[in-house]
Amino acid sequence: MSEVKVAPSLLSADFGRLGEETRRMEQAGADWIHLDVMDGHFVPNLTIGPQVVRALRPITKLPLDVHLMIADPDAYGPQFVQAGADRVTFHAEAAEDLSRTIAGLKKQGVKVGAALRPQTDWQVLKPVLDRLDLVLVMTVNPGFGGQAFMSQMLPKVRALRQVYKGLIQVDGGINGQTAALCRQAGADVMVAGTYLFKAADPKEAIASLRAGNVSVKSCSKKGGEGACG
Ligand code: DX5
Ligand code: ZN
Repeated sequence: MSEVKVAPSLLSADFGRLGEETRRMEQAGADWIHLDVMDGHFVPNLTIGPQVVRALRPITKLPLDVHLMIADPDAYGPQFVQAGADRVTFHAEAAEDLSRTIAGLKKQGVKVGAALRPQTDWQVLKPVLDRLDLVLVMTVNPGFGGQAFMSQMLPKVRALRQVYKGLIQVDGGINGQTAALCRQAGADVMVAGTYLFKAADPKEAIASLRAGNVSVKSCSKKGGEGACG
């Protein structure tokens, strides 16, 4: 496992001030900036296109980590690379041919990740794991910020960690407590929207995601691990 990285998700930022919000997270110690791209088809929500990535590129030195929740990653993925993305993660469920999508993006010189919806078994990625820089285990159903962490995803992270040497990213319902659970299971990259953008002190919030050793005893027992935070 490599050291913990924190990637604030701009989905929870003030969209009228995306540049300032990006700088705010960079100053607070973020490692990457996570951008959620939704097409109203793969998920029932619409967000940003490549123009926003292009506009943010000169604002920050941090890697731009683009999470494509779109039905056609082969058609649109390259546009995000041209706009300045450093990392592109597509959904395994959306790719007709995993190898083709990975090869297409790699050819453009970016780090490539594959994401898994909660219902999708990690084993679908088995044949291509050695070509992936990152696997994103969704810990909520993709589409919206502010949902509760699904603790049922922890065994998926653990199983993947046994066989996969690259980065494991978790996304959805991540806070100080759920990040600690994910870290214990083997995750390297914590994506968090609500927890970081609504924090009174983002620096402290980012540090708490990095710590990875927060006691889970303070979690509410009601509802189990998913009720934490
Ligand atoms: C959900 C997105 C997430 C989302 C996380 O589909 O992929 O990146 O912004 O938001 P929180 O941290 O609020 O669950
Ligand atoms: Zn995301």
